[in-house]
Amino acid sequence: KSASVGIDIHSEQPGPVLNKNIYGQFMEHLGRGIYEGVWVGEDSNIPNQDGFRLDVLKALKDLKVPLLRWPGGCFADEYHWRDGIGPREERPRTVNSNWGGVIEDNAFGTHEFFAFAELLGAETYVNGNLGTGSPREMVEWLHYMTSEADTTLVRERKKNGRDKPFKVDYFAVGNESWGCGGNMTPDYYADLYKHYSAFLKAPEDNLPKFIASGGTNDQTDWTQTLAEKIKPSWSLRMNAISHHYYTIPTNNWETKGSATDFPKEEWFSALQQTLLIEDYIVENTAILDEHDPEKKIGFYIDEWGTWYDVDKGTNPGFLYQQNSLRDAIIAGLNIHIFNRHAERVQMTNIAQMVNVLQAMILTDKEKMVLTPTYYAFQMHIPFQDATYLPISLSATPVYKQGDASIPAISASAAKALDGNTYISIVNTQLEGAIEVTLEQVKQARGKVLSSDIMDEHNTFEQPDNIQPSDYSANVKNGKAVILVPAKSLMVLNLGQL
Ligand code: AHR
Repeated sequence: KSASVGIDIHSEQPGPVLNKNIYGQFMEHLGRGIYEGVWVGEDSNIPNQDGFRLDVLKALKDLKVPLLRWPGGCFADEYHWRDGIGPREERPRTVNSNWGGVIEDNAFGTHEFFAFAELLGAETYVNGNLGTGSPREMVEWLHYMTSEADTTLVRERKKNGRDKPFKVDYFAVGNESWGCGGNMTPDYYADLYKHYSAFLKAPEDNLPKFIASGGTNDQTDWTQTLAEKIKPSWSLRMNAISHHYYTIPTNNWETKGSATDFPKEEWFSALQQTLLIEDYIVENTAILDEHDPEKKIGFYIDEWGTWYDVDKGTNPGFLYQQNSLRDAIIAGLNIHIFNRHAERVQMTNIAQMVNVLQAMILTDKEKMVLTPTYYAFQMHIPFQDATYLPISLSATPVYKQGDASIPAISASAAKALDGNTYISIVNTQLEGAIEVTLEQVKQARGKVLSSDIMDEHNTFEQPDNIQPSDYSANVKNGKAVILVPAKSLMVLNLGQL
């Protein structure tokens, strides 16, 4: 017998706006994430527009990507922006020491990044180099990108083909400064942040939001130190603190688990691991609440997603992994959590957009495939800039494995910009549909993503193994009874409530 749950949507108690950037993406110079995945160059046989492959471009346009983070990641702290401007054939060849030690020919640089973001209509998040750069290098990059003054640097930008300044929406000072970004302590980083921040200037109408690089996993000391030591002012801007959390099914970096062909236990443990992010958000935002009760400082999860053992036979430094139904379920669960904490969590960036970790898109030369995570993001487009609506559940069925349990059902609702109310529902169980009853709705129509196979995934040979299908429930006197299949994600439009 399937469990039954009634979900009440409290339209009368609207919460914060779900910043569209909660659905942000991350593209790093890592493996085939940018080169081949996005950028093939104008001379490629792969159809492209100004060097950007057309198939990927179209798929990302369809996804309404709100925000792009670039150039890293660990790569950011070794990136010297001047290497990536000017005639491509003259750009220096460097080594990508973080990711496979491959040659970086710098074909994709500042101008290419902004051209790509503009094609997508996405906001931009540039991650500055604190690790191996200098205040001068960072200050000059920001000036090059944002200034209209008649300086030598701006003249150089114009000579490189860009008259008007680029729009930099967000700018971060370093990345994972506790690790690949320089093995720093929170105290040391906070002092450096204050130092750099004093010089990071841009015109008022093109002033990015500044992001301090924070902690990871269950750490709270980075948030604590940054919130204590940095009191934002006109010369010390800190609009947000970032945080990273990756889902590893085995919780063991040595053998993380496989992306497909995994045991049932790892379906459960992956979901269990991913749900921990809510505790980490709660613990860190509680610290912010103490120091910043007006909630001016955001808490951005600018790297999250699944991290598995790399696909067999691929370069271990390229972090290439398949993506299955489990990833879509994980995306749904994370999205629900982010929505619940949208007051502070105004941005997140899933790692990473193409060909790296929990990707939206996989490519193999001229072939492209959309992953279940792509579809999870696509189904949530109405949630971008929607107004959060609290919900309550009449029961909280659990899904058990041994002594451990996780919620069997997870949901999130919002009133979208189109005036309709949407609900997103996940059934985490491998077996057993759950009957969900919704009252006072006008309709219940949308998409469901599911399969009988727990690791169902799309391949280059069979790109349509898993796709969302249409779903529609009868509504009688405002009541809809929805049978949410095992291991599924649903997003339904409930009409104008
Ligand atoms: O996303 C891959 C890497 O994970 C990033 O470069 C780094 O910031 C994190 O450790």
